[in-house]
Amino acid sequence: MLYLWRRSQVPVKQLIKISRIDNLIIFLVCILISIISSYKYLLVSPLQITDIFSWLLTFTEILISSGILILVSKKENPTISSRQIILIITLLLAVQATKLAIASNISPLSMIIPPALVISQGMGSITALAFVSIASFSWPDPAVFINNNLFFILLVCASVVSLLGARIRSRAQLLQLSIFVPIGSFLSQWILIGKGSNPLINNQEFVLANGDIFSDSLLLAIVMLFTILFIPIFESIFGLLTKARLLELADKEKPLIRRLSLEAPGTFEHTLLICGLAEEATRMIGGDIDLIKTGALYHDVGKLHAPNWFIENQDGSKNPHDELDDPIKSAEVLQAHVDEGLKFARKNRLPKMIANFIPEHQGTLKMGYFFQKAKEKNLDIDENYFRYKGPIPQSKETAILMLADGCEAALRAMNINASDKEALETISNIIYSRQKDGQLDDSNLSKGEIFLIKRAFLNVWKRIRHRRIQYPTSKNNTFS
Ligand SMILES: [Fe+2]
Ligand SMILES: [Fe+2]
Repeated sequence: MLYLWRRSQVPVKQLIKISRIDNLIIFLVCILISIISSYKYLLVSPLQITDIFSWLLTFTEILISSGILILVSKKENPTISSRQIILIITLLLAVQATKLAIASNISPLSMIIPPALVISQGMGSITALAFVSIASFSWPDPAVFINNNLFFILLVCASVVSLLGARIRSRAQLLQLSIFVPIGSFLSQWILIGKGSNPLINNQEFVLANGDIFSDSLLLAIVMLFTILFIPIFESIFGLLTKARLLELADKEKPLIRRLSLEAPGTFEHTLLICGLAEEATRMIGGDIDLIKTGALYHDVGKLHAPNWFIENQDGSKNPHDELDDPIKSAEVLQAHVDEGLKFARKNRLPKMIANFIPEHQGTLKMGYFFQKAKEKNLDIDENYFRYKGPIPQSKETAILMLADGCEAALRAMNINASDKEALETISNIIYSRQKDGQLDDSNLSKGEIFLIKRAFLNVWKRIRHRRIQYPTSKNNTFS
């Protein structure tokens, strides 16, 4: 609960922009949800003013609830796409339509819990809980009567799925959830309602002749298993980033990561160390650890386009930048590691949230080393030409990666006998320079969080100093 509370408190500066046409589609679906959830109030004859009033009330209530659901999803996922919002409200529409069509035949558990699982996996627990509350409280057909105990079981099961769904880290755990929740619902219905009698169901003939809580629970298990089968399809159509998908991408046997380890071993080592720094810092501030670990793994894949142009892969041999002796061209090679990285991301169908780490870890940082060289050569060129194209980090996770990227080379190059105070000073200087340069302006990192990040980096430095490898000099750190 503490974690959820903290997530809900994340301030958001820049909500994702949604195009007009998408806004219109979303609005129309919300209207449709409101219509199908309320039109039955108008079907009574003779129609009285109180009926029109209760229709209007229900219509407005559902419309506002749908709006709140969208706002909650945006708040929980600042980078949510319009496709994902459309998925959430389409699921709500599907649930309302199903209720209208077959509410008297199947248990509400099978209608509400499976979509809640999809939403919690893709969009998080808070959005899933908001979905569950709207879907549970609005019943389009006033004639449908729901037993209080069943309603209670529905809320408990749906809340458990919403809370656990967002934390599940493997497909195996998902399968376990789809077995244990129906067993739990069966036992609780057996205790609270009684076997064989189900007030919601008049004429249920699914699986068992007279329909009872056993067939309800079996149906729930079957629908949940089908949902799990379809989750990978939802992932690719709607760009959902589930924990299981994140962990799959973090597999070091993935072809792109294998290539990185073989063709750019220095960058691969740098990447692993950054993963450690970023993970520790993210744990300290309560961010998304799986996201940052995977993002860190792919942040420099663009270096594969020319591995030996980056200091960490040079192995002490000659530096092609010295031979080139053209700071402007060298700056272009550095920028290319971002542009090529984005191309690799597209080719390998990396989710957008992972691809964002590629440009944002460099932000609009200055390539100080080459800018200095250009000044030495008296080249009359704008400073901005020696800055990465950005954007600056838009989330806490990408900002942490930028800071880890900046500190990694400096910590690695630091004397083995350096004290903790010296290490903290180095870390603080690097972080302060990024802050002063405005790189953290859009990241929403608070001062307290930056303090925690510094402590986390120091902890990792203490851990690695005994087994670190010396890397050529610190003056070439601008190559990172
Ligand atoms: Fe980089
Ligand atoms: Fe890097």
